[in-house]
Amino acid sequence: MGFPLIGETLQLILPSHSLDLPPFLKNRIKRYGQIFKTNVAGRPVIISADPEFNSFILRQDGKLVETWSLDTFAEVFEQNTHSSRKYTRHLTLNHFGVEALKEKLLPQMEDFIKSTLSNWSNHESLEVKTAAIKVTVDFAAKQIFSGDLDNAPFNISYMFRDLVEGLMSFPINLPGTAHHKCLQIHKNVRETMRDFLTKRLNSSAEKRAEEDLVDHLLRDMDSQKFLTEDYIVQMMFGLLFVTSDSISTTLALCFKLLAEHTDVLEELIAEHDSILKNKENLDAPLTWNDYKSMTFTLQVINEVLRLGNIAPGLFRRALKDIPVNGYTIPAGWVIMIATAALHLNSDQFEDPLSFNPWRWKEIQPSCAAKNFMPFGSGMKQCAGAEYSRVFLATFLHVLVTKYRWTMVKGGKIIRAPIIRFPDGFHFKISHKNQ
Ligand code: HEM
Repeated sequence: MGFPLIGETLQLILPSHSLDLPPFLKNRIKRYGQIFKTNVAGRPVIISADPEFNSFILRQDGKLVETWSLDTFAEVFEQNTHSSRKYTRHLTLNHFGVEALKEKLLPQMEDFIKSTLSNWSNHESLEVKTAAIKVTVDFAAKQIFSGDLDNAPFNISYMFRDLVEGLMSFPINLPGTAHHKCLQIHKNVRETMRDFLTKRLNSSAEKRAEEDLVDHLLRDMDSQKFLTEDYIVQMMFGLLFVTSDSISTTLALCFKLLAEHTDVLEELIAEHDSILKNKENLDAPLTWNDYKSMTFTLQVINEVLRLGNIAPGLFRRALKDIPVNGYTIPAGWVIMIATAALHLNSDQFEDPLSFNPWRWKEIQPSCAAKNFMPFGSGMKQCAGAEYSRVFLATFLHVLVTKYRWTMVKGGKIIRAPIIRFPDGFHFKISHKNQ
């Protein structure tokens, strides 16, 4: 359980320098087995890499366990009540789920990505992770509050990039600490969101052609008691953040891994060229059926998500004592499902550190259900999973059919335990016809 008060927090957040499982987890799993206890920031935590126990726990939401967030996450994202969490999930699915994707988001995304890549190709060198944060935040801001962030008083994409640095830090709120900086950024972004909301409230007569997510929230304020202005500001912030960091990290890894694996890139190009060839008009927009036909692309995305392990884990808190293998997890203890340990387990994924999208041809859905959960699993599974896949697949479609890219500098990866790229991924992106 480590030292008094700080427990093993410092070991947990100590950076490691590869996509591999951080030594903190690797060494303890070797020593204690797939379920062990530790102490993070003074809090007892059970860490589990055991597929059977994990899938049991993920079916116990609201019964033996509840959803939980790390201290900094909780302060930044605020712990909501059960009914407000359910509402958020429903609202997100309404605006970012399959129906919205089919009806309007897919063509909008394609246009947005086309103009983004045309802009990226004007740069001699571009840091892809930061640029991708801007794209994902800008696109989500349009859906959430019809927002144009170019005129915001702060550079929101830079702020989100820096926010991540502090999310897994030790929760001491003193000037100079990463935690303090994180809370400061949170405050500034929230103020910007509040300004947008105030403008919206003062212009309620102005009707938008299509209802955005904030219109929906304002309409529901009478029926949902928890929907205060503060709550709406928090939700605007939270949704912008979850859409930005996760997708941009995956996208940046796609650039790097595809540049390093030309065999994968060639098969990807072939898949997308054949989608274009089957169209009567080369400029016709992507359809839902086109997206569904991108079999290899979705295998590439799975493989990047497996290796990337963007979420540090899935967190639950025991509501009652939970017996496991002759031990008891006391009520109140936190349980962290170490998804990275599942995704890099050599029993399930042969040569787990190699980038091999073809492995997904052989993997049975029953195996994937217990051993691959980048978006979580069960009732609390990520409400933006399909949106993320469609965004990434559409991006790859435009990228591989029209552009080529080479790394200019950077490329280092660290995990602390959140994945980060300390000197960035700088690429030169050029149109294929140039
Ligand atoms: C690569 C992209 C993404 C990854 C890897 C990811 C991963 C996750 C994970 C691991 C969870 C927690 C599941 C659990 O505790 O069981 C989650 C929850 C959630 N995600 Fe995502 N996410 C991504 C993108 C998004 C996007 C784009 C949105 C919004 C459009 C979103 C909205 C949410 C919401 C609302 C929840 C809470 C679900 C609930 O409690 O019912 N995520 N996500």
